[in-house]
Amino acid sequence: MATARFDAALQDILDRLHAATSELDASAEPDEVARQAANLALRLTRSSHAELTLADGKFSATADAGRFLRQNTATSELRAGEQKLGTIEVTRSAAYTDREQLALAIFASQAATAIDSSRRLRSTERVERAHELAVQVLMAVSSHAVTGQNLGDFYQRLARTVGELVGANKVLFWTLRDDSLLAPLPAASFGVDRAFLSRLEPTPCVPGGDDLAGKVVYEDLIFRANGADAPEFGYVLDALGVTNAISVPWRAGEERLGLVAAYDSVRADGFSREDTWVLQKAGLASGLVTRLWHTQEDLRKSLDRLVKVDGARQMLLKSMTTVVEKERKRFVGDLHDDALQKLTAAELLVARTAQKNDVDRETFETLGNLLEQTESALRRLVFEVRPPALEGPDGLAQSIRDRVNMLAASGVRHELEIDLPADINPDDRAIIFREVAEALGNAERHADASAVKVSLKQVDDGVLGLVEDDGKGFDVAERSNLPGHLGLLALRERALMAGGRYKIESKPGAGTRIEFWIPLHRDVMA
Ligand SMILES: Nc1ncnc2c1ncn2[C@@H]1O[C@H](COP(=O)(O)OP(=O)(O)OP(=O)(O)O)[C@@H](O)[C@H]1O
Ligand SMILES: [Mg+2]
Repeated sequence: MATARFDAALQDILDRLHAATSELDASAEPDEVARQAANLALRLTRSSHAELTLADGKFSATADAGRFLRQNTATSELRAGEQKLGTIEVTRSAAYTDREQLALAIFASQAATAIDSSRRLRSTERVERAHELAVQVLMAVSSHAVTGQNLGDFYQRLARTVGELVGANKVLFWTLRDDSLLAPLPAASFGVDRAFLSRLEPTPCVPGGDDLAGKVVYEDLIFRANGADAPEFGYVLDALGVTNAISVPWRAGEERLGLVAAYDSVRADGFSREDTWVLQKAGLASGLVTRLWHTQEDLRKSLDRLVKVDGARQMLLKSMTTVVEKERKRFVGDLHDDALQKLTAAELLVARTAQKNDVDRETFETLGNLLEQTESALRRLVFEVRPPALEGPDGLAQSIRDRVNMLAASGVRHELEIDLPADINPDDRAIIFREVAEALGNAERHADASAVKVSLKQVDDGVLGLVEDDGKGFDVAERSNLPGHLGLLALRERALMAGGRYKIESKPGAGTRIEFWIPLHRDVMA
């Protein structure tokens, strides 16, 4: 009989323990689980009062306040694994049996586990949420950076998005000026009006200072103050005239640009730690955008300068080419009209005199030959200096053909491919001809080649020229800067000054290949 009673009592407490533990709902909020646990402990032990004490608060349940007189208590630790979360204490007038105390201990361990897992679940959710927000703010940074008209527009858009993401009524970037003052940047703000701005003063901000702003800017302090919860920062909130605030560094790598702050949370409990993380990402990412923007601006300025310099260089080349070509023309004209005419007359005179009987015919023949050689040397010089055909609009092809044909005299085989537009302007014609003439002249004089190949064709709004010989070749690095030998130097300079490019490839014993590309200046120089 005693055993039966014993079993019934045991059964009863086990049933209650089962009911209590199975009602614990770990999926609820941690505070809610704690409140439930206090109620369930009350029912489990049939107590009049139960109190659960955790590090961040107390949760109690009371069955009947009236019978709260003579007290017996039973206490159990709330332990989840190694971690002690708090205690649970029940109170009633009757003493607690050993079994009841044991049941309370078992229940306490279940309750602790439920509170712990609820907290873990919440913190996982918070981390996930913070992560999502961080991704959103980074996406906003990158999309605003692309769509923003200028840096001011970018910050305006970003401040708005950040305000929405962290639930702030106001967002404001503070810039660190060259005079070491941290000053509000109204152009980079959201929800900030004149009245608010009028309260703000630039504040000194130096590395190693005691002030909060300096610590945020230089020591990466993440500042968070929520109204009454942070009395030590009350003076900051008062000075700003806000109820709560968060601020984080605004920097690009090691460059300190200032700080970014959000004020007046839309939520009753103020800004959360997750909000500061979001703001932090915005501060870092936008700093990088700022630097990128400045770099782009510098690049744009450099590019503008380069374009101007390039324009000046082209003007210079044009005038140089014009002057040189004019001089060549005058020289050739004089030579042709004066010296060559006279030479021809002299040849005729010598020939006629040689017919007479009383002269030394041999000497006159030699004299005649010398005059002929001088004339052909001069005619060749005339051609070299300025081929007559170069004058005409499609004279370039003809001049090059004539020049290549002159190779035949020295017994060199040649191959020529020309495919050029007909409307190349005179300056470009002269430059292209000089490039080919120099390369051909070198092949003729230095290469000892058996074959030469010349090709000219239009490529990308310019003319690509190629002169190749199978001669003895040379060491380019060594021989293309020889004092007094200016041909290759001039070839390179002409190509670069015209805004084109060149390539000289040669090796002793392996022939020479010279390539150049000259842009055609239809509008600028035509
Ligand atoms: N096609 C080539 N084959 C072999 N050697 C060459 C060739 N072209 C140039 N060289 C070598 O490179 C040197 C430099 O050439 P560059 O045209 O600069 O001067 P140059 O022809 O000697 O004199 P300049 O052109 O001033 O009248 C030449 O002296 C020659 O030794
Ligand atoms: Mg030369």
